[in-house]
Amino acid sequence: MIFDSGLGGLLFYNQIKRIIPYSNYFYAFDNVGFPYGNKDKNYISYRIIKIINSICKLNKIDLIIIACNTASVLTLSELRKLLNYPIIGVLPAIRIATELTRNNHICLLATNNTIYSNYVSNIINKLSYKYTIISIPSMQLVHLAEKILQGYYSSNLLLHKIFTKWKNNNKTPDTIILGCTHFSLFTLNLLHILKKTVIDSNIITINFILNFIKNNISCNLNSKFICDKAYCVSLTKKTRNLVTILKYYGFESLNVINI
Ligand code: DGL
Repeated sequence: MIFDSGLGGLLFYNQIKRIIPYSNYFYAFDNVGFPYGNKDKNYISYRIIKIINSICKLNKIDLIIIACNTASVLTLSELRKLLNYPIIGVLPAIRIATELTRNNHICLLATNNTIYSNYVSNIINKLSYKYTIISIPSMQLVHLAEKILQGYYSSNLLLHKIFTKWKNNNKTPDTIILGCTHFSLFTLNLLHILKKTVIDSNIITINFILNFIKNNISCNLNSKFICDKAYCVSLTKKTRNLVTILKYYGFESLNVINI
């Protein structure tokens, strides 16, 4: 099962589905709690536990993937204690960035919660003897990505404005970490405008998942009857409009769970 607060995890789903195609996927998103990037940790973990438990009652789940950096940095250890399933979270790929940077200046783009989390602060502190890591929180980009994923038009001009502001603000990071699943959507824009190395934390996590599956799980990766399903927590008019988009991604249905 892949979980995200919103539709950003669909980008992760697309990426993993290409690498592990013959597996059944369940995609769950919290369309009432979204966005998580500025919400309280207890609120987030309470909702995720409820959502995961409800879906696990209905389906056989081999692995839970928290495709949300915010939820992962805040709640992963608690989820692992409380839920009896293997759980892997997408986390900002900071260590990989230290291997790729040439000038030791790195920029992390993520939500407010991710950037101000103990998890990220501790890593940045530990690495500060050698690396300058600039953190840029942006909930504006989260909302923008969610809108685009819902099918709304967004002008390149706005993206250009946001990124160019960053370009002038920063010292000179040569490596940018996308520390929010939604931000994969902007990879090409970032490459085009900022001309830096861009590290997508989703891709790094997928490599880790592949290894994990090989070594730890005897799940059926070659399911004959693929029928991917999406789940949300409230079927509003806005969510109903997502059915066609979810079909396009490969989900045969959008279901509601009551939490
Ligand atoms: N996609 C989520 C992440 O990776 C965050 C979006 C939100 O604020 O809910 O951080």
